[in-house]
Amino acid sequence: MPITTEVAALPGASPRLLGAYLESLTGEAASRPDFLAVAVTPGADGPVTDPALDGLLPAPAADVIAAYHLSGRAGEIAHVLATVGGRPLSVLLVGVGDRSPQSLRRAGGELGRRVAAGPTAVTSIVADSDAAGVGAFAEGILLGGYRFDLKSGSAGEAGEPGRAQLLVGTDGDWSAVLDRAAVTAGAVALARDLANQPSAVKSPQWLADRALEATAGQGVTGRVWAADELAAGGFGGILAVGSGSARPPRLIELSYHPDGAQGHTVLVGKGITFDSGGLSLKPSDGMVAMKTDMAGGAAVIAVLSALARLGIRRRVTGLVAAAENMPSGSSYRPGDVLTQYGGKTVEVLNTDAEGRLVLADAMAYAGAELQPDVMIDIATLTGAARVALGTSYAALYATDDALARALTAAGEASGDRLWRMPLADDYAPALASDVADLCHIARDGSPGSIAAALFLREFAGGQPWAHLDIAGTGRSSENAGELSKGATGFGVRLLLDLLAA
Ligand code: BES
Ligand code: MN
Ligand code: ZN
Repeated sequence: MPITTEVAALPGASPRLLGAYLESLTGEAASRPDFLAVAVTPGADGPVTDPALDGLLPAPAADVIAAYHLSGRAGEIAHVLATVGGRPLSVLLVGVGDRSPQSLRRAGGELGRRVAAGPTAVTSIVADSDAAGVGAFAEGILLGGYRFDLKSGSAGEAGEPGRAQLLVGTDGDWSAVLDRAAVTAGAVALARDLANQPSAVKSPQWLADRALEATAGQGVTGRVWAADELAAGGFGGILAVGSGSARPPRLIELSYHPDGAQGHTVLVGKGITFDSGGLSLKPSDGMVAMKTDMAGGAAVIAVLSALARLGIRRRVTGLVAAAENMPSGSSYRPGDVLTQYGGKTVEVLNTDAEGRLVLADAMAYAGAELQPDVMIDIATLTGAARVALGTSYAALYATDDALARALTAAGEASGDRLWRMPLADDYAPALASDVADLCHIARDGSPGSIAAALFLREFAGGQPWAHLDIAGTGRSSENAGELSKGATGFGVRLLLDLLAA
């Protein structure tokens, strides 16, 4: 569902912005927001809020903060009633932590959840923040208000959009900052929508159609490789993984090549539209979340849809290897040997390790045909990555330290955080096969996320390559901060930040 919340700037002249704003509300005719949102900041003598609220709350601000047991940590929220000009006004006290972009994004997310359903809010929370802070806060508001549901009552529902007005300083091109935040949040919402869509609808061709639709008019040329073209091209991994499904696989190729572009980044996304495990069938519980096994591919599509609007001047190609991993009489089997794009043979030991097989084809194709100077793949690849890092950090593997540093920095700035893991050669022998060039999983209990990365490295070509395992970060089990329950759109903010740098 598209984001309906609108965020606008209310530039103010006074250094005491909130005081001046409250002053403007005292007149009879003044139009009042449904909410006023004010920051609570942790301090040495306990959390504090804006002194402009003194005298308007039912008790001194410090007592209100104590009565609600507020700490000021980012995203904490309490609802109190103030009296302004003799009339009641709803006030949200919002914890902002250290006021870093990360904290402001989280605080914005909690505010956005309250604003999405149609109220209007005015907030002084970022009155003193710079562009990075205001942008992160706006992104949080927009993303916190994101919803996906297919409830019968919600179909076609127009609803009142939420409106957040930010009191900001007078200097700064706030409309440009807020436009960027809206484009970025819109791209994240697109990735979430694609991943939240149930797999009954979401065939590989459906994903390809949405990719073409989302990138139309955005300086992107699209090509969708049909199954017979994949066969002619030698994409043995994508074909094998898709072979058990009634709905054939696709390779989605999206090319963004602006005039005077410098450098060429290839993004490769795992696009498994449903992962049952195939003949190595998953247990029922492990299968429930597998409609989001194309979250990496969704992130790639969303990134390509936003490049032109963000004025990015790099050449970028997005490849999404889309297939449905199903058990049937035509499925690929454990023990099969398949030939990946470019000719390497791979012994299949477990059909549930399907992601690396589709990625390997797309990566080998990119290396052979597209002359990238950077290649990054993003994939919900291994349960092991989630065990290792949980849901807050994605696993980063890289053959190049500068690329790893740039990605880590983009992760911290964007909120899509990464933790670097080793491409440890010690485990490479575990991928040896008796019958093929290599196995796709380690037989000997080697660490699962690292083994998958080592397998992919065989197909990464000579240029710098990074692999992002988002199995943990791709989904959220709760509405929290800027995240909504279900697909998170992880990687969109990260990659847009990296490409804009
Ligand atoms: N899509 C899964 C990985 C996954 C698990 C993503 C949980 C999100 C949440 C992947 O295709 C898979 O099944 N991986 C196997 C690999 C194993 C068979 C070597 C895994 O992690 O168990
Ligand atoms: Mn699997
Ligand atoms: Zn999978």
